[in-house]
Amino acid sequence: MESQLALELVRITEAAALASAKWIGRGDKNNADDAATTALRSHFNTVPMDGTVVIGEGEMDEAPMLYIGERVGNRKGPKMDIAVDPLEGTETVAKGLNNAISVIAAAPQGSLLHAPDMYMQKLAVGPKLAGKLSLDDPLEQTLAKAALLLDRPLTDLTVSILDRDRHRSIIEVLRQSGVRIKLLGHGDVMAAIDTCADSGVDLYIGSGGAPEGVLAAAALKCMGGDIQGRLLPDSDEDIERCKRMGIADPKRLLTMDDMVGGQGVLFVATGVTSGDFLQGVRHLPGSRAETHSVVMYSETKTVRFVRSVHHLEEQAGTWAQAVSF
Ligand code: FBP
Repeated sequence: MESQLALELVRITEAAALASAKWIGRGDKNNADDAATTALRSHFNTVPMDGTVVIGEGEMDEAPMLYIGERVGNRKGPKMDIAVDPLEGTETVAKGLNNAISVIAAAPQGSLLHAPDMYMQKLAVGPKLAGKLSLDDPLEQTLAKAALLLDRPLTDLTVSILDRDRHRSIIEVLRQSGVRIKLLGHGDVMAAIDTCADSGVDLYIGSGGAPEGVLAAAALKCMGGDIQGRLLPDSDEDIERCKRMGIADPKRLLTMDDMVGGQGVLFVATGVTSGDFLQGVRHLPGSRAETHSVVMYSETKTVRFVRSVHHLEEQAGTWAQAVSF
């Protein structure tokens, strides 16, 4: 069941990746995002599931498609919560940079956190550190503990973090500690995945989007990693928004299980622009394009890579996929 569903979901992240790839390097993140959203949404209702978007393109009144609460799928399959980001890394695509993906997580109904669109403080690690560190500990202590557990000197540890002014004081602590720092432009779903992917990155820390935190939690649950988060509401209105979405204490520490409960979680992503983990869309002679995707399933911890070759045709202004393998 889950392998059929996974392949159906890959088909739609591929469609989104192909559509948004047309906007790589064109300085237009809105059109890149619209292209991905339209392509992904137009394929969703063929998927055999009764899905409800819990993380999508926004609230019902601010997003015409993939809004929170929207029913997706052909309603003939299992009831699922859906977290979707048709284009994670809009700016990345606009600037022609690395690591943009189209991504969906699907889990049995009631298992995904309904994360509001605000920042979340995060700590993500790979399997060797999973369950052994706490977001509540001072950073110096966390780094020392990680070095001890990995049996490496602090100077051999690599920590990734978004390169933002709000992270200046954290970056200063990292510099003082002697670890290597990987400063990221965008894309913290891939940053969290990298901690589980033999990429040389040991920890991902700092704040990024809360919806991206849930997507990362779905991936890390499948890969044996760990992520903790804490929402960062910065107004009474934000706190109210959290409560409306079912989060009674918006400031409490969220474990990976709080973000993605139970098992039966599927995570699929297709590369739009290339990164270490997934290659981006590559155009081939003869009106063809190649995509690289990953499919993960939490119950078996299987991580599958799918390489597809698509035959592209111009059809009423959109690209149609004909064949993939
Ligand atoms: P978009 O795809 O919405 O552009 O998000 C990219 C991203 O880098 C996320 O991966 C990350 O969680 C968030 O933006 C960080 O936000 P900010 O750029 O405001 O620091």
